[in-house]
Amino acid sequence: MTPASIADYQRIARKRLARIAFDYLEGGAEDGHTLRRNRQAFERLTFQPRVMCDVTHVDSAVTVLGRPLAMPAIVGPTGLNGLYMPRAEEDLAKAAHAAGLPFVLSSASTSLIEDVRRATAGDLWLQLYVQQNRAIAESMVQRARDANFSVLMVTVDTPVHGVRDHDVHNGFKLPLRPSVRLMADLLMHPRWCLRMIRQGGSPQLVNLARSLGERANINAQAATMSRQMDMGLDWGAIAWLRKLWDGPIVVKGILSVHDADKAAQLGVDGIVLSNHGGRQLAFAPSPIEILPRVMDRVGQRLTVIVDGGVRRGSDIAKARALGAQAVLLGRAPLYGLAASGRAGVDDVLGILRREFEITLRLLGRCQAAQLDATALDDGHRDQL
Ligand code: FNR
Repeated sequence: MTPASIADYQRIARKRLARIAFDYLEGGAEDGHTLRRNRQAFERLTFQPRVMCDVTHVDSAVTVLGRPLAMPAIVGPTGLNGLYMPRAEEDLAKAAHAAGLPFVLSSASTSLIEDVRRATAGDLWLQLYVQQNRAIAESMVQRARDANFSVLMVTVDTPVHGVRDHDVHNGFKLPLRPSVRLMADLLMHPRWCLRMIRQGGSPQLVNLARSLGERANINAQAATMSRQMDMGLDWGAIAWLRKLWDGPIVVKGILSVHDADKAAQLGVDGIVLSNHGGRQLAFAPSPIEILPRVMDRVGQRLTVIVDGGVRRGSDIAKARALGAQAVLLGRAPLYGLAASGRAGVDDVLGILRREFEITLRLLGRCQAAQLDATALDDGHRDQL
């Protein structure tokens, strides 16, 4: 059966990946409440279409932070993508470029900044986690600048990792270590197992390792460092980042009007409203629920991007109608990658683009750039 939707790709990914990898990709914090809530928020919103408009020509393009996007979506940062395919980040970046979208490389990536740049001439952004050893972040930012990355996205919702029972059950830890459970998992998924062997048995946090410097047993050290976030990180870090980076700075992981306002006061260029795909704070609000209030307060002052639960072109239209400049895609491209590598990512991005354009036409709106709240039910704020 030809996959027709992101949900189809999710099912294929579930079959093809070892359980330890699929659970890491899919899982939410605690009992999955926030993960479900992200979808429910989109599903509560209904449209208000107009008919008898000429929709022969539709234009899905928008401009975000001064950069052209073929539709209001960005391939977002996800760590450890080597769990699904070798050279995953290169393939994600190439697919994003082919689709006319930026790609955000996670600082917990399994490919080097320099290798991803060599793979594509596309628009690349760096996502930064700030570890206790700030020299790591400084080195990573410098490397991204040298590799012509355009936007710095600092993630601020991860002073510690969220509560993820499935990773405890699976004994998930880098480097992956043999256990009876993992062996049984591998026997059931021999193709996945071969892919891991091709990568030396376990994906490695090579970017972190490179920025740590060349020392013995560097990958094990990188894995340790990845857990040692700087819990002292506060708003003072924005001035530090400004000294390191002269391009746009986006703060990812904002979930309150208060913090959105703070970010605007400090002059950052953009924010991502995000609960990290439901993986961090259990019972966090869904970004789409708070978007209208955030837009009221800061919409005129900075770029607002939103993520969490985007699985359909209609979700992208809803986010844009509520005022977001674009959405970040987290799991959706990864389902395509895990199912069929680069071709799967191409298809996922193509499906979202097609669905988005169909939604625009059926709404009687020809231009993504002109979508606004009139495309939604008059009572949409109550629906949230
Ligand atoms: C993430 N996310 C994430 N965010 C980030 O800033 N740095 C990272 O390294 C990661 N890693 C990561 C791994 C995996 C497997 C997932 C699913 C997510 C969060 C990500 O950028 C985004 O906020 C969410 O994934 C959006 O929700 P959806 O689209 O996955 O529902």
